[in-house]
Amino acid sequence: METGFKRFDYRTEADFLADLERLAPEIPYCRDYSHCSEALELPGLAIPNRLAVHPMEGADGAADGSPDELAFRRYRRFAAGGAGLLWFEAAAVVPEGRANPRQLWIHAGNADAFRRLREEALKSLPADRKRPATVLQLTHSGRQSRPDAAGPSPIIACPNPILDRQPGRIVGDDELERLRDSFVAGAVLAADAGFDAVDIKACHGYLLGELLGARTRPGKYGGDFENRIRLMLEIVDAVKTELGGRIALASRFGAWDSIPWPYGWGVSEGDHRIPDFSEPAELAKRLAARGVLLLDVTCGNPYFNPHVNRPFDHGYYTPPEHPMLGAAKLFAAGRAVQAAVPGAAVVATGLSWFRSFGASVAAGLLRDGWCRLAGFGRQAFAYPGFAGDILSGRGLDPGKCCLACGNCTVIMRDGGSAGCMLRDRDAYLPVYRRGREGKPPVDMSRRAEHL
Ligand SMILES: Cc1cc2nc3c(=O)[nH]c(=O)nc-3n(C[C@H](O)[C@H](O)[C@H](O)COP(=O)(O)O)c2cc1C
Repeated sequence: METGFKRFDYRTEADFLADLERLAPEIPYCRDYSHCSEALELPGLAIPNRLAVHPMEGADGAADGSPDELAFRRYRRFAAGGAGLLWFEAAAVVPEGRANPRQLWIHAGNADAFRRLREEALKSLPADRKRPATVLQLTHSGRQSRPDAAGPSPIIACPNPILDRQPGRIVGDDELERLRDSFVAGAVLAADAGFDAVDIKACHGYLLGELLGARTRPGKYGGDFENRIRLMLEIVDAVKTELGGRIALASRFGAWDSIPWPYGWGVSEGDHRIPDFSEPAELAKRLAARGVLLLDVTCGNPYFNPHVNRPFDHGYYTPPEHPMLGAAKLFAAGRAVQAAVPGAAVVATGLSWFRSFGASVAAGLLRDGWCRLAGFGRQAFAYPGFAGDILSGRGLDPGKCCLACGNCTVIMRDGGSAGCMLRDRDAYLPVYRRGREGKPPVDMSRRAEHL
């Protein structure tokens, strides 16, 4: 069976279904979109339908970390789109933990701007729609920290010969303890700003994600499983102690990063490309037992193996596998976590590559219990009204869908603010063009079989 990279060129649903049957027949497919319309109640969280906008960093914050005009515009468009869950992007809890100088950073001096961001977004909700639940993602960018124009300033859990591009500063245990307090402070500000839930982000190779795989780190936050999950659980406990039931707890949860042993998380010892969900499933259980009942499950590391993180048609290398197989692995990760914590709600990741067929894949995943919410990332940049069109029963308009072209990321890597330069061209084509000036074209010819 041919499984290598192939661009999305299905002319009809029958063409698409033939490939689905050939490559990933386990992925459920259902044309009955009513599965997306059911409400979901979790403690402290009323979610009016099963469609979610994933957290998507726009790199459009001001120097003090407050959301800027483009961020307000993005969230107004997302809220108007009708998804039942709006997951606001990564906001750093300390300035040195920003991934770029325009990443959001929440602190006492600007919490009011986050309150306005949420409130203004919700004002654009159509009159006939129930209010979506809102989550704010809190982060420390760790080895991806680049807080100012001076360039990367990595803060790492442990040296990693696979990822290290330059020596990073190893974060000390005492600094991690202070960081726990910074996450708590961020959670308090998120609650004050009106968010329904706060996300303790542990994925994509950022600091809390990296700690999960830090087998080679000495001391109480590295080595065995209990040590590697310690900080995550300490943060959750400390947020609960401080806020009680004032805010629901969530996590953007990496289940498999596909980084070779001993540095990877959720990987098989013999082959990092084969997931081993046993540790992630155990962590999910510990989190759920503490009341973290909303898990947005993701995989991969966008800086190392972006095809694992977000199946694409165009990027910095030719993906070593058909994007449908990548999506199948993302769904399998969500399914494994959902099975481990049936009382929690998993948000599935991996739907944008499917274009308009993503509506039926989402309905299938929900129908068959692989997840309890279906999340869309890049699709929301391209087609912010995607949820309303699924919920109305019309389905997705192929002419409005994300094309998995990767340019939202290219914009960000070029130093601009992320959005869709194809479907939202007036706002983002100029940003894309400015960023590309003087740079070589993105070259897909590099092969990446080793990933
Ligand atoms: C430009 C861009 C920014 C992103 N920012 C975040 C973020 O802030 N937090 C996060 O957890 N994931 C982030 N992601 C990952 C997405 O949430 C999502 O997991 C990924 O795009 C795969 O979903 P999709 O196939 O629906 O796009 C980002 C992705 C892109 C392309």
